[in-house]
Amino acid sequence: MSDSSRKRSKWDEDEDEPPAAQPPPLKRRTKQKPAQDSPSATPPPQPSSVSRHPPHSHYVPPRTHHPPILPSRSVYCYERLNQIEEGSYGVVFRARDKQTGDIVALKKLKLDEEKNGFPITALREVNALMTCRHENVVGIREVVVGDTLTQVFVVMDFIEHDLKSLLTLMPSPFLQSEIKTLMHQLLSAVGHCHSNWILHRDLKTSNLLMNNRGTIKVADFGLARRYGDPVGVGGMTQLVVTLWYRAPEILLGAATYSTAVDMWSVGCIFAELILKEPLFQAKGEIELLAMIFKLLGAPTSNSWPEYSKLPLAKTISLPSPQPPQFRQKFQYLTAAGIDLLMSLLTYDPDRRITAEEALQHPYFTESPLPKHPDLFGSFPSAAAGEKKRALFSSPSAPARAADYKLLTDFDVPEFN
Ligand SMILES: Nc1ncnc2c1ncn2[C@@H]1O[C@H](COP(=O)(O)OP(=O)(O)O)[C@@H](O)[C@H]1O
Ligand SMILES: [Mg+2]
Repeated sequence: MSDSSRKRSKWDEDEDEPPAAQPPPLKRRTKQKPAQDSPSATPPPQPSSVSRHPPHSHYVPPRTHHPPILPSRSVYCYERLNQIEEGSYGVVFRARDKQTGDIVALKKLKLDEEKNGFPITALREVNALMTCRHENVVGIREVVVGDTLTQVFVVMDFIEHDLKSLLTLMPSPFLQSEIKTLMHQLLSAVGHCHSNWILHRDLKTSNLLMNNRGTIKVADFGLARRYGDPVGVGGMTQLVVTLWYRAPEILLGAATYSTAVDMWSVGCIFAELILKEPLFQAKGEIELLAMIFKLLGAPTSNSWPEYSKLPLAKTISLPSPQPPQFRQKFQYLTAAGIDLLMSLLTYDPDRRITAEEALQHPYFTESPLPKHPDLFGSFPSAAAGEKKRALFSSPSAPARAADYKLLTDFDVPEFN
């Protein structure tokens, strides 16, 4: 790391006394027209043919017809409140908009070790967030800059929880009616991204935010990419999706993959919501494949015709056939629930259920019906530095079926 990158920004150090509330807006270069007004100015000699034609193609509208290019606002427009988390690509802060008082999240993009200009991951993240605006995708507000070139922040709506932290803090798992609501929201967000040609490629519980009003927001588009774009000679990168949520075709070295990789991750998330812990907690890729084979039974030429053609398939010795263990693992899930889970965790990516299809699955219309988001309990937000209340850590009520949370003060929305 260079010296300059170690230097902390003034925004980091001293939020009370920002040097300047906002840098003066960059002066737009305006064409001067001194030719007639100023006697000293002599117009440059121009060949007569040039003056008759515009300096640009007829097909490109003149500059004045483009949307205006505005400079990014300064990070000093925000007051830093607390650091939420340092993730793999950036640091996330909670902050307050000094103008509106809105509480937001600022993700500082890690640029300081970048040798080749602005990193593609950061560009993809901003672009994907702007392309995929949706009720269940975290809202991007703007991109702001700090004092140095390494300080670029994405400003997002602040969301109280991420599902990973919430699942570890909750005394008992979500109710089926709640899981249905969360899964329906997740599927509509993923379906929306896919219909806009965006693959998320890192769906997992720590990248799913949830507010205190029962709404999920898909976040962290740092690995997202457009899937309609041509694929380079080396194929698409296999270094995507956090191991536990990685689809078998990626594990087996497929050169191209598509929306189905996200659907596999959605299946892992569905299972995690039910189990209250990640489904495949493997230490490495081989162990992960072994765990998948154990749960689903090994792939066959019937269940996954393309399997044997995958680059790494020959290096794997398949276990002897054994029945899938879905039923034992998910004893309390209805037949429709098991069917949806199995459709998501389907080996063959071509047969894996799509987000659009999954939204129509009977699981969502059978009893218990999805719970209205307004009826979700609210939890103290670790990201906002809220302390656990005594009630939260007390033993859970005996009868889960009674929707006990409705009877506690968690149901009083904290923010509205
Ligand atoms: N808009 C937000 N509101 C609240 N917390 C957030 C927000 N965005 C991210 N976080 C928190 O920061 C963590 C890391 O952010 P993320 O975008 O996933 O970065 P990374 O690419 O480093 O994983 C998330 O897991 C979540 O806990
Ligand atoms: Mg993340």
